[in-house]
Amino acid sequence: MVNILQIVISLLYSQLPDQFVPSLDPKSVAVIGAGSAGLAMLKALFDLPETTRDGWRIVLYEQRGDVAGVWLPDPHLHSPPDIPETPLYPLLHTNTPVPSMSYPGFPFPPGTPLYPSHEHVREYHQRYAMAHNLTQYIKFNHEVLETRWVGNSEYGHWNISVRNGTNEIHLENFDHLVVASGNNHVPRIPVWPGQDEWLKNGPDHGPKREILHSIYYRGPERYFNKSILIVGTGASGQDVAIQVSKIATKTYVSSRHDRPPIDQVEFKPEISHFTENGIIFQDGTTCNVDAVLLATGYEMRKPFLDAGHALLTDPSVTSNSSSNRNLTTNLHYIFPLHQHIFSLSPAHPVNALAFIGLPTAIANCPSDLAQSIFATHIIRNRTILSSREELLDELAAYEHGIRQRGYDPYIIGHQLLNGTSSDYQDELIDFLKKQNAIPDDGKNYVEGWRRDVFNYDYLKRGWSCIEESGQVEEWVRDVGTEEEWADLMKRVDAWQKNWERENGIRFVADLGVRN
Ligand SMILES: Cc1cc2nc3c(=O)[nH]c(=O)nc-3n(C[C@H](O)[C@H](O)[C@H](O)COP(=O)(O)OP(=O)(O)OC[C@H]3O[C@@H](n4cnc5c(N)ncnc54)[C@H](O)[C@@H]3O)c2cc1C
Ligand SMILES: *[C@@H]1O[C@H](CO)[C@@H](O)[C@H](O)[C@H]1NC(C)=O
Ligand SMILES: *[C@@H]1O[C@H](CO)[C@@H](O)[C@H](O)[C@H]1NC(C)=O
Ligand SMILES: *[C@@H]1O[C@H](CO)[C@@H](O)[C@H](O)[C@H]1NC(C)=O
Ligand SMILES: *[C@@H]1O[C@H](CO)[C@@H](O)[C@H](O)[C@H]1NC(C)=O
Ligand SMILES: *[C@@H]1O[C@H](CO)[C@@H](O)[C@H](O)[C@H]1NC(C)=O
Ligand SMILES: *[C@@H]1O[C@H](CO)[C@@H](O)[C@H](O)[C@H]1NC(C)=O
Ligand SMILES: *[C@@H]1O[C@H](CO)[C@@H](O)[C@H](O)[C@H]1NC(C)=O
Ligand SMILES: *[C@@H]1O[C@H](CO)[C@@H](O)[C@H](O)[C@H]1NC(C)=O
Repeated sequence: MVNILQIVISLLYSQLPDQFVPSLDPKSVAVIGAGSAGLAMLKALFDLPETTRDGWRIVLYEQRGDVAGVWLPDPHLHSPPDIPETPLYPLLHTNTPVPSMSYPGFPFPPGTPLYPSHEHVREYHQRYAMAHNLTQYIKFNHEVLETRWVGNSEYGHWNISVRNGTNEIHLENFDHLVVASGNNHVPRIPVWPGQDEWLKNGPDHGPKREILHSIYYRGPERYFNKSILIVGTGASGQDVAIQVSKIATKTYVSSRHDRPPIDQVEFKPEISHFTENGIIFQDGTTCNVDAVLLATGYEMRKPFLDAGHALLTDPSVTSNSSSNRNLTTNLHYIFPLHQHIFSLSPAHPVNALAFIGLPTAIANCPSDLAQSIFATHIIRNRTILSSREELLDELAAYEHGIRQRGYDPYIIGHQLLNGTSSDYQDELIDFLKKQNAIPDDGKNYVEGWRRDVFNYDYLKRGWSCIEESGQVEEWVRDVGTEEEWADLMKRVDAWQKNWERENGIRFVADLGVRN
């Protein structure tokens, strides 16, 4: 299937003229993906004054049938090598308080629990799209297969191939490409010596041994009466461990770092290798299990950019991008990018290719919108930004700053370090104000209450108590505006803090990063 597709695509491209034809349409923008990030981009484009965007061509391609990205369930069951459309599983609740996940000015409706089930987040995205008339720009069931820049560092256009709902492939031209395709779609699958022998050597009777990535996880039932090793303790690893340990015969978790204990879970260090009869850890201890679940995260990969050579994949790059300025991913980090958004590759102009939603460890909807406003204004007027050389120097200084804080930018990738995620968003918007691209309202982009959420160490436990005691309705019934949501979080945090103090209880703060 893929091969036939590639032949068709290369036939289409072989008919292209050698020289690029500058597009007559001055601003045409293609957005890929209708998750949180793509919707934010549409909103930002739509918010341009009508006189400015008059005549612009804006198309968002979404391969699935609706908005919401990872929050839209995939009704089908998949097994490798087939990849599910989302890692979403029925028991999933948000691991961050939902008011902090909202787009500015568009709060969750009254009655929403603070850490709701995934359906609330899906519905929220649908309402956001409807309320702002965004679906008029969206072509559902359209998959972008390949994107190619036709031109040079100053002029040109994107020639992109799209497969539509009836499986037909066609080419389209756009001046600007905005990639909002999400970070949780290509599983990162480590391989250890000896694992194939271990898999083959399962018991003659009883369950077959398996190693599966968490993108396939749909509930704990699969592990009933089995023993399991979960690899990784990001948010997915922790969540799965809590669910599975209740019905598995034995649950191990392999972790690089020390972690708060989980009931009935035995922690292990990193895996060294497998033998026919078990798993050997780096401290020399062993265990054997029926199943291994890899909560090992995702690769930073954009297959449709790869296919058109707009993005090189080189997993071996671990330190310095200055020598190779072609846009590259080492599967953790895409570089060189300005502000995690604009490609600084010399292959195209600085505003030709933007990424929305790469940063992690951030409340993504507000961040996606800040990035989108930034991208929209740079697309409108490229001269707002300095020269490519200056932006590359700025990037080198940023990477240097990350190293000084003890991290490798090529490993942490687009993860925003502790305490910098709000400043990052303010910086994007302040820059536009300084350039007179948007009016200065004298306010910070990130409202004070959103910054406060980082200090609410008692909030999640407080909410659990409220749920367990059946008081949810009383707390959230009349909470509707952003101010009311902000106040609710403050009250729940203070309520729990007070209770823990009075009862002399101390917990280790759990700062989850989703895997
Ligand atoms: C299981 C899970 C739980 C999470 N829980 C939380 C949480 O509690 N709190 C929190 O803040 N964050 C959470 N996150 C992070 C979450 O990823 C973000 O909140 C956010 O929804 C990501 O939005 P996005 O638009 O960047 O990407 P996505 O939601 O992945 O959307 C990308 C869209 O692009 C489409 N697409 C991709 N490639 C193509 C193509 N070639 N052609 C056409 N369309 C394409 C996809 O179909 C998809 O609809 C969670 C993530 C996961 C995976
Ligand atoms: C959406 O479109 C409807 C009808 O076309 C219009 O009445 C409404 O004002 C629009 N809303 C926004 C936010 O533009
Ligand atoms: C797909 O494209 C073909 C050819 O352009 C067209 O005839 C068909 O109606 C399109 N299908 C959809 C669902 O858009
Ligand atoms: C790109 O796509 C268009 C279809 O819109 C096609 O006609 C054209 O030949 C392609 N090639 C270039 C170089 O633009
Ligand atoms: C649990 O597994 C054991 C060993 O594989 C088997 O003997 C037993 O019947 C199973 N119990 C249930 C309830 O399935
Ligand atoms: C990266 O390379 C540039 C020049 O190629 C050099 O000036 C810089 O010091 C290097 N940085 C690191 C961290 O190696
Ligand atoms: C970078 O891109 C240029 C132009 O597309 C190409 O000639 C060169 O080989 C690329 N460099 C690497 C390291 O891939
Ligand atoms: C584009 O930005 C530059 C630099 O901020 C500014 O001088 C110029 O007036 C802007 N152009 C338009 C059309 O807004
Ligand atoms: C992040 O900040 C918190 C307190 O603000 C601190 O306890 C924690 O160690 C920091 N983590 C990292 C990775 O810097």
